Amino acid sequence: MDAGDLVRSIRMAGVAGGWRPARSAWRRRRTDARDLPRRGPERARVPGAAVAAEPEPGGGAVRFERSTLRVRVAVGGAVFCGWDGAQPEPSYALASGASRNGSGGGVPEPDVRAVLEPDKDGWRVVSERVTVLVSRHGAVEIRTPGGLLLRRELPPRWWDAVDREDGESARWVQRSQTPADARVFGLGGRAAGPRLPAGAYRLWNTDPGGSFGPGDDPLYITMPVQLVVADAGCHLVFHDNTRDGQITLRDGEEGAGSGHDRPGGCEVRMEGGPLRYWVIAGTPARVLSAWTALTGRPALPPRWALGHQHSRWGFGSAQEVRRVVAGYRERGLPLSVVHLDIDHLDGHRVFTVDAGRFPDLPGLAQELGEQGIRLVSIVDPAVKAEPGLAAYDSGVAADAFVKDARGRQVRGVVWPGEAVFPDFTDPAARAWWGGLYAERLAQGFAGVWHDMNEPVSFAAFGDPTLPRSARHSLEGRGGDHREAHNVYALGMARAGYQALCELRPDRRPFLFSRSGWAGLQRYGGTWSGDVATDWAGLRASLALVLGLGLCGVPYSGPDVGGFTGTPEPELYLRWFQLGAYLPFFRTHSSILGGLREPWEFGPEVLEHARAALAERTRLMPYLETLAHIARGTGAPYVRPLWWSSPADRALRECGDAFLLGDALLVAPVLEPGATGRAVRLPRGRWYDTATGQAHRGPGQVLLAAPVGRVPVLARAGSVLPVTGPDGEPELEVWAPRAGRTGSGVVFTGDPEGWGAPRMERFVSRWDGGRVVVERDGGGEVGYRVRVRGDVEGDAGTRTGDVTQRPEGGGAEGAGA
Ligand code: GLC
Repeated sequence: MDAGDLVRSIRMAGVAGGWRPARSAWRRRRTDARDLPRRGPERARVPGAAVAAEPEPGGGAVRFERSTLRVRVAVGGAVFCGWDGAQPEPSYALASGASRNGSGGGVPEPDVRAVLEPDKDGWRVVSERVTVLVSRHGAVEIRTPGGLLLRRELPPRWWDAVDREDGESARWVQRSQTPADARVFGLGGRAAGPRLPAGAYRLWNTDPGGSFGPGDDPLYITMPVQLVVADAGCHLVFHDNTRDGQITLRDGEEGAGSGHDRPGGCEVRMEGGPLRYWVIAGTPARVLSAWTALTGRPALPPRWALGHQHSRWGFGSAQEVRRVVAGYRERGLPLSVVHLDIDHLDGHRVFTVDAGRFPDLPGLAQELGEQGIRLVSIVDPAVKAEPGLAAYDSGVAADAFVKDARGRQVRGVVWPGEAVFPDFTDPAARAWWGGLYAERLAQGFAGVWHDMNEPVSFAAFGDPTLPRSARHSLEGRGGDHREAHNVYALGMARAGYQALCELRPDRRPFLFSRSGWAGLQRYGGTWSGDVATDWAGLRASLALVLGLGLCGVPYSGPDVGGFTGTPEPELYLRWFQLGAYLPFFRTHSSILGGLREPWEFGPEVLEHARAALAERTRLMPYLETLAHIARGTGAPYVRPLWWSSPADRALRECGDAFLLGDALLVAPVLEPGATGRAVRLPRGRWYDTATGQAHRGPGQVLLAAPVGRVPVLARAGSVLPVTGPDGEPELEVWAPRAGRTGSGVVFTGDPEGWGAPRMERFVSRWDGGRVVVERDGGGEVGYRVRVRGDVEGDAGTRTGDVTQRPEGGGAEGAGA
């Protein structure tokens, strides 16, 4: 047991209690000792020298003495490299067919214009976005069309089982180099991010147990997805392999003009499985677009999921839910969703209700519905092993539970006690599981919250999950938990999403999941999990949202206020202010923690939280627009500051602020006692939205951050939709620089259904000393327009607002 294990087991013992986690841990260890194939002697192998090459559509195959490399450029520019005969499929990341509106992803067609041809030191494949060079010993370089190096993969090394009878795939390692200035983001949800410091990152979805802080790794969502940003350009590399492994990042060092840079790089080390990867190069926007074309576009949350959500583990009764909802109502605070955690279940059994504490759940749902509030239900994968329980009996009948090598149910311990686990890699099990969601809909729930799906089985020591030898269907191919573990939650999300589509075809599902893998966005979003209630936890929660967005999962947010304990009022407020600008905005806490209602922290916090909620409401049309942009292009709502200036090195190090879409820059306060903070600005002109004062980037400015607000800046020229004082949408326009124009799009969609959204584009420009807004392509603007910033031009001294008539055209008069 290492130190991490020890800490985790102490935490586990705290949450789960009793002797069961100890028994379960022994059982897991015994099962693996008996059933896990033992690695026999191994022999190291490298590709050796190239012997032949043959073109194929989109690239070709190079045969080496001891392996073959296939390079294929796909339509859209993604490059596939597969060693040892690895093909793009089967792949869980690329799996298609599960979501509506064509978001399934899947293997793209080869770009037939790209062909493998001889080059001076080997071969090359030239495509529109990148040039791939393959050396005679199996190094692969990815270069920009202009010849700059983005990444160099050194020849891989395998360890083959000498006795192939054991059926084990080879372990392998691959080292790569990136430019000395390169910075790495992603790898799923990492508390240490967003820019990942040098070090080792394990690829194994893990419940840290109890809570986590910036030093805890891995967490619930790991993904072999790296977004690399360098002066030469950006690229994403995805090692499509679901096994346990480790990615070790190394920072480069620049030789201060000596020409002797030490490259940065990484080492990918996997316990087996295919050696194949995809590389996508281009601007961050193009990279995310191609990545989500490959792995599926993000599901579009219903509009109500963009509003404020409140949750607590331990409401304990319908009465308490009513009390909290009334608290929001009486204080005039907007509330869109209430989440019910495991305490509303009968003895923590999934798909049941504690009828004593929640005597009429459909009635409660209806009552809340009349106030515009939706109910969301937690759904844990573990089913109590209890004959007579409908979910258990039907699962047994459907042969849906994970078994060991001898065909016996694999049992673990989770909230309800002794439990079994659906095999979400089995299509039939997914179909059976999906059917159970009908019960949730009948209870009046509008969405689901998937939890404990790493999957967790409490363990007093060792890994709190299923035995590695546990058998899984893996879509009929057959395999064990070593391959299925990291995609367990992805399969659960697929089952849940599909079920909700089928059971309620007229509405878009709302689903978010604690664990996941590459492609999770096809089915829904995620949240921070059990982030520790302290300032470091606040910072980590922003790191997670940014990192996940760059891995293609744009909808997420933290437990506002932190999961554990009771935050001091200032920390709660700063968390709340950050949360108000994140896609998933939910207050939540542990049953052992304190309350998170905004009025529990004194009248001052309440008033400032009210202001944050009002701002959230005002930004709703903008957030909806960002949701549609994420859906259509993969661009996350929350973006790192370098998103549109990746060449600005200072921005790559900046993890304490973010862009919300194109228009806004949000600089949350992440430290106690702050009344101001430094904000790094990307290139361009930025207005402090509180004062209207203009600042010029790149550079750093010091802005006031009194306890009542966090600095938010708007990009000059931007046009964004907001809710006006009368509740109607209006356009907020930030004056472009003199002589420049600006623009913005507005998406107005079906709030909950599948109807196609309406997209409108607007342009802002100066016209004879005034800012005017026009609909792109002509026609009436159709919205009231509020111009802000330097309303009299760059030379003018006055800042303020000008309101324009909805018919468009000129300014009506100066406000403010
Ligand atoms: C897990 C979840 C947390 C939830 C708790 C009880 O710890 O991460 O959000 O409240 O389980 O269901």
